Amino acid sequence: MSNVAASLRPGDLDLYRPEALHDPYPLYAELRGRGPALHEPERDIWLVPGYAEAAAVLRNHREFVSGDGATYESALGRAERYPLIETDPPEHTRIRRAVQPPFARAEIEQLRPGIESAATAIVEQALALGEVDAVPSLAQPMPDRAMALLTGLVPPSCAKLVDWSDAVVRAQEPAADPLHTELLLEALTWLGQDGIPGLPAHCLGRLIMESGGTTGGLAADGPERLMTLASIWLAGVDSTGALLGNAIDALIEQPEQWELLRARPDLVPNAVEELLRFEAPFRVFYRRTRAEAEIGGVTIPAGATVCAVLGSTGRDPRQFPDPDRLDVTRENARTHLALGTSIHLCLGAPLARMEATSMLTELTRRVARFERTGDPVRSPSGTMRKFDALPVRLVGA
Ligand code: HEM
Repeated sequence: MSNVAASLRPGDLDLYRPEALHDPYPLYAELRGRGPALHEPERDIWLVPGYAEAAAVLRNHREFVSGDGATYESALGRAERYPLIETDPPEHTRIRRAVQPPFARAEIEQLRPGIESAATAIVEQALALGEVDAVPSLAQPMPDRAMALLTGLVPPSCAKLVDWSDAVVRAQEPAADPLHTELLLEALTWLGQDGIPGLPAHCLGRLIMESGGTTGGLAADGPERLMTLASIWLAGVDSTGALLGNAIDALIEQPEQWELLRARPDLVPNAVEELLRFEAPFRVFYRRTRAEAEIGGVTIPAGATVCAVLGSTGRDPRQFPDPDRLDVTRENARTHLALGTSIHLCLGAPLARMEATSMLTELTRRVARFERTGDPVRSPSGTMRKFDALPVRLVGA
């Protein structure tokens, strides 16, 4: 045990401490040094901070199940489950097959013209203003446009959609505020009353709601179709917005990487992977055990809450040499776990990658540099690593 570990007090391993939320990386390094799986007694959760061990947990869906909840709050005792993220095979397989085809690379490729023209418009508008908060001006509008193109849903405003998407995640956190549950209900009510009736003729929303997905396998009775559409729609907003905000901040901090990208735009796709590794938008995802299981030689009891610390896996030096350095040329950047792996691998990954690549390509083309005009503000979310505010000046190329 290191000296740092020896001086730890109860609660010091808590991922949700405000200091640990602000800069989680020292805590993550400490956790990785302490073993493959650690019991955090205050919250009674098992933390899995290393790359190989977290990947093993995510790949072993038989022993580490999602059906009892994939977030901090257990889903046991709740009547409804989110149809993809909180289900296990065979239910998960049926639902995933029904919605997977529209996410095939060739299908998502059809959205490219719309995504690229959205990127151009967003960057042009920010450049015209000069001084902006990069969160509402650059990071959030792209997923807002992308989810409308994908699903056919046009929400009342970008800000409202962002609040709804944030609430889905926040409602499942330790410090959940009733406001988050209210916002989530507001989103589902809007979806049923306005969103679905207003869908255009051909879109993913109609495919899900009217046909039960490509296979027709989504149940017509009950909330399964609506909840599947809601899950896809709301999962794609805050996450991609977080990636874009984190990316701009990281590239301000590491200007030589920004210069490299401007000189070598062919590196942008790899830079997106490296930025996902460097600051995983989802800090954590959870699994539960129903029988005794094992992680890296550590016995985990039945009924345990197991936390794959995705944010830590990207900084594991056993997988990523010199992990605290952002390196857009890193060869194995794409092996990160920021988009999950195995059966729950992010459904929207091809779209998230396209959005981020389009935005970064457009920014490197048109922006010579970013200058800070105020202090960035980190979100207090214990799940999503993102900014609430990122004041910058864009200097045109
Ligand atoms: C940078 C942006 C994104 C990040 C970091 C991200 C991250 C993740 C992660 C880590 C998982 C796995 C969860 C688990 O193992 O329990 C996941 C699943 C999922 N993501 Fe994403 N996501 C992003 C964008 C999107 C987008 C754009 C969409 C929709 C268009 C989307 C829809 C989903 C869905 C539906 C699942 C559940 C899949 C399943 O359980 O089979 N995500 N995402």
